[in-house]
Amino acid sequence: QELKLSLEQIEKGGYEHFMLKEIFEQPKSVHDTMRGRLLVDEGVIKMAGIWDHIERFKNANRIIIIACGTSWHAGLIGEYLIEEYARIPVEVEYASEFRYRNPIITDKDVVIAISQSGETADTMAALKLAKEKGAFIYGICNVVDSSIARITDAGSYTHAGPEIGVASTKAFTAQLTILTLIAFKLGKHNGNLGNADFMSLIAELDAIPKRIEDVLSSTHELVQNIAKDFVGATNFLYLGRGYNYPAALEGALKLKEISYIHAEGYPAAEMKHGPIALIDENMPIVIIAPKKGHYDKIVSNVQEIKARKGKIIAVVNRGDTQVSAMADYVIEIPETSECFSPIVASVPLQLLAYYIAVYRGANVDQPRNLAKSVTVE
Ligand code: G6P
Repeated sequence: QELKLSLEQIEKGGYEHFMLKEIFEQPKSVHDTMRGRLLVDEGVIKMAGIWDHIERFKNANRIIIIACGTSWHAGLIGEYLIEEYARIPVEVEYASEFRYRNPIITDKDVVIAISQSGETADTMAALKLAKEKGAFIYGICNVVDSSIARITDAGSYTHAGPEIGVASTKAFTAQLTILTLIAFKLGKHNGNLGNADFMSLIAELDAIPKRIEDVLSSTHELVQNIAKDFVGATNFLYLGRGYNYPAALEGALKLKEISYIHAEGYPAAEMKHGPIALIDENMPIVIIAPKKGHYDKIVSNVQEIKARKGKIIAVVNRGDTQVSAMADYVIEIPETSECFSPIVASVPLQLLAYYIAVYRGANVDQPRNLAKSVTVE
């Protein structure tokens, strides 16, 4: 037992939990995901899995992304990315729903499965179904040589390194990085993403590890202090629009997985169709409101929350004034193009969930009832 503990301590590299270690590894893991693929000086994205099958992607009627949990949230952001930059229609499905609803799949479809473990039973079964129907199946997995990686026709590993904490963190940002690379590569190839835009986007992507590093150092202490004020919370609402709507879903999932506080993510504009009824002075609301991406709309959502006395924790860009003036707590992140903002905004939300759970005395690396790899349906 003693030996096991000390080994584990070594593995945690001085961090109290694997989850915190993995959150802090993200500048490196995102960099590792891009290594050898993003060649900024040459203006090239190299991805053999895509390039070897470029005709399948080019001729695809649509791309269907299937996944579960956090990987499904990455898939939703993938839809925004691929539709915006490659203009290919994308559908995102929970693997468990897809496999049982007699879905329409043809040999003109490309099905992308996203899975950290590469072993999720529902995702695996959905892929087998798609393969039977003749679709081209592509895997985005973290675990090398996993079942999903083996069954797929091609794929891209995320190379985030082993993720031990049950709540996914660095695998998620690595999945977003791969999806970004795919969207830019396809868009460049099919002419929907012009060369000048492509060049400036890849330069920005290349600097994302630095942005994450910046967010980690500038928000770590602040987020710990914010977390202290919400240890007794029973509910949380997470809101975002556009690319940050799935980021809100993921923020809420992180909190419920490890702190056992009920949390819901919602597209900010949908608030008026239900969740607004829940808002009073006891409701904490995390709102993701970067400058690029429907900012003015978010401002009016925040006004509605403020009028109902909700406690606002706002994730905004540095120098923000409008949302910050209304918020009870302000977490600043650097400004990026909208498509990169979920990567950067997710980091303080991971820290917030982590510290709230730690202060509640929860076992963050091994939350109750959850498994890292779900090999049963
Ligand atoms: C479990 C894990 C989650 C993960 C989900 C999908 O629920 O606890 O962290 O997002 O499975 O797993 P996958 O390995 O397919 O990404």
